[in-house]
Amino acid sequence: MTDPVIHDIDNGIAWVRFNRPEKRNCMNPALNRQMMDVLRELEFREDVGVLVLSGEGTAWSAGMDLKEYFRETEVQGLGAVRKAQSESYGWWRKLRWYQKPTIAMVNGWCFGGGYGPLFACDLAFAADEAQFGLSEINWGILPGGGATKVVADLLSMRDAMYHALTGEMIDGRKAAEWKLVNESVPLAQLRDRVTEVARVLLQKNPVALKATKDAVRRVQEMTYDNAEDYLVRAQEAANFYDDGGRKEGIRQFIDEKTYKPGLGAYDKTRA
Ligand code: COA
Repeated sequence: MTDPVIHDIDNGIAWVRFNRPEKRNCMNPALNRQMMDVLRELEFREDVGVLVLSGEGTAWSAGMDLKEYFRETEVQGLGAVRKAQSESYGWWRKLRWYQKPTIAMVNGWCFGGGYGPLFACDLAFAADEAQFGLSEINWGILPGGGATKVVADLLSMRDAMYHALTGEMIDGRKAAEWKLVNESVPLAQLRDRVTEVARVLLQKNPVALKATKDAVRRVQEMTYDNAEDYLVRAQEAANFYDDGGRKEGIRQFIDEKTYKPGLGAYDKTRA
């Protein structure tokens, strides 16, 4: 049997790919379980600094597998349904709070349940040719698995409502305009652009990256005062793991004058 998830590591970047191209990479229980295993295996590896999630073939992911995730699970009863949900939601949650920065590289179709991992990735880059849709309304359910929350959080209320109610697709360019993804480029340039962004992240202090990505997500639900306090505590916690890094960053700028923080990162290899 072919692995539903494949990956390779190249110069600090873990390229993880949905691998059911013949089923447009829709997520069945086997894929969800293997994805969790792969994420666990890669999370604390020294040779991985950034994780990119993409899809084999013409799809990023056609969402949940209507046959194996919904129909065949439902006939087994509520316990099986809850188990399948916890397996998929589980790896999306792991990805939302992943140790390393993550990038969704949306190479093609992205539907419904695919919005879970899309949102879970810190950054998202799409091919102009990619197609996004909340297709749930077309087959008679509401956009679950967090998909409604994703569009309500990322899009304007009008765009989110139109997208969810009509089930119409948008292409990568529109997804970038709506801020569902950071950017859209022609498919032929997508991997190069994502590699370029990943390389920028690889230059940064990894403890600061994790603290920053968590902070951006956490403060959204806080009052200003709570956020101010959280950010003080989060930096102090980061200092516990890496007190040398920021001091070296100050030293290289103030004493050594070898770089300018406004223009790029300090040389972390000398910390
Ligand atoms: N669940 C189950 N099977 C799916 C699937 C899904 N979400 N998406 C695709 N497949 C299967 C098809 O049934 C087909 O299987 P078969 O070869 O055994 O007949 C195979 O994948 C290829 O799909 P096909 O529809 O022929 O490919 P396409 O390139 O013409 O169209 C899509 C691609 C993505 C537009 C179309 O497959 C589709 O609409 N998928 C469902 C999307 C969806 O609603 N997802 C939301 C789920 S929450």
